[in-house]
Amino acid sequence: MASFVIGAAGFGRHISWKDDAVIPPGHQLTFKDALLTTSHDVFIKLLVPSWAMGFTKRFRRARLAFDELQRYLTEMIQERKGSQLKEEDDDLFTGLLSANNDDNLLKDEVKLNDSELFGNIFMLMVAGHETTGHSLAFAFALLALYPDKQEALYQHIKRVLPDGRIPTYDDMPSLSYSSAVYNETLRMFPPVHSVPKLSAENTTFTITDLNGTKRIVSVPQGIALTLAVPALHYNPKYWEDPHTFKPERFLGDWNRDAFLPFSGERV
Ligand code: HEM
Repeated sequence: MASFVIGAAGFGRHISWKDDAVIPPGHQLTFKDALLTTSHDVFIKLLVPSWAMGFTKRFRRARLAFDELQRYLTEMIQERKGSQLKEEDDDLFTGLLSANNDDNLLKDEVKLNDSELFGNIFMLMVAGHETTGHSLAFAFALLALYPDKQEALYQHIKRVLPDGRIPTYDDMPSLSYSSAVYNETLRMFPPVHSVPKLSAENTTFTITDLNGTKRIVSVPQGIALTLAVPALHYNPKYWEDPHTFKPERFLGDWNRDAFLPFSGERV
């Protein structure tokens, strides 16, 4: 499901379970297979040196999927470059291409070449696919484990959308319990569990240990830090009964600083 959303919102390609079964001429994989294999096997590409990518069937398949995706994206870049923007082309990919072609916007900036465009699109795809896919999978598993919450969500959706219509973006603020379920899932199973950072300047942290004693920790410039997201999300100081799935905690007010599934903002 996450791939379909990324396919449409990211690339303007409407893929589905059944369609996209025919491999177009000049390709060895469908767009869907290339997209799915690359996002599942991105760690193979990161960890295995290119000279070893022919060693196993899985590595070879990953290599093929990367090559194929690059071919599809290059074709799409060429196609969109040569055509007028249509209203239905309001996907991320087209947005990036037209921003890159906008001479007013990028007057003093360096434009991205095709390989950099590919890199950026690929990053959006990987960053957007695995995070969304995993958190949805955990949300469904939690709803199965907590049938009373599943029922509450079902009744809530029926109240907000009584006629059974497909929700639009404008319905989002009314779907408060759905957001609460998703937030509670992100609290319990944050897909990005460690967020690496570098200290930009010499600073200090004032921390309080379990006994309530304050301590000052010095943090020199350039030191590597990692935000341990699950540790924060399960800290009983901020979250009552942290091991229990309770979407309701996100209906009222909650401690924004203790909820960092998307990392934090500089203040
Ligand atoms: C549940 C869904 C998601 C979660 C939990 C999530 C989480 C995160 C986190 C923790 C970071 C690191 C931020 C930091 O370094 O401070 C990040 C970065 C990023 N995310 Fe997401 N993300 C999600 C969905 C998406 C989607 C749908 C997209 C795009 C389609 C996306 C694109 C990106 C990009 C491009 C970055 C890198 C930003 C940068 O380094 O400037 N993410 N995300």
